[in-house]
Amino acid sequence: MTEKNLAEHAISARSRTNLLEAMRGEAFAFAKYKLFAKQARSHGEDELAALFDKTADQEYMEHFTEQADLLQLGGTDEQDVTDAIAGESFEVDTLYKRFAEEAREDGDEQVAHRFEEIRRDETFHQLAFQEALIKIQTRQRTMKGATRSSSKAHDF
Ligand SMILES: [Fe+2]
Ligand SMILES: [Fe+2]
Repeated sequence: MTEKNLAEHAISARSRTNLLEAMRGEAFAFAKYKLFAKQARSHGEDELAALFDKTADQEYMEHFTEQADLLQLGGTDEQDVTDAIAGESFEVDTLYKRFAEEAREDGDEQVAHRFEEIRRDETFHQLAFQEALIKIQTRQRTMKGATRSSSKAHDF
């Protein structure tokens, strides 16, 4: 493909799904290596800790970010906040709710308790993002109003 064709080429549905799956793996590796680094450092293995930290940074700053760029993951602030609300809402209303119920059914009390606590935190995330969205939309409306009144003033 020429460079122009490459630029115009829309990513296939399968590649999009694969990018998302790969990004989940990279994000998990990032978090896991950060945790391993902390553990290694806690018993004096500083060199190993540094290797985990360095690798974690590449998983996030390069692998995750490069794939996110291909998917054009970030949008306007309003779109990003709306996306975040959807994610947090899914965790609150579906994922952690069901996971807590299933853990309780299986007698995994500690796990159920942890899921419930996290679900409560997600509620706060959801709320904070909803407030942020209202702020963005209010600001936009105020700006539109200001533009309208200034263009009106211009008519006179
Ligand atoms: Fe990676
Ligand atoms: Fe969250």
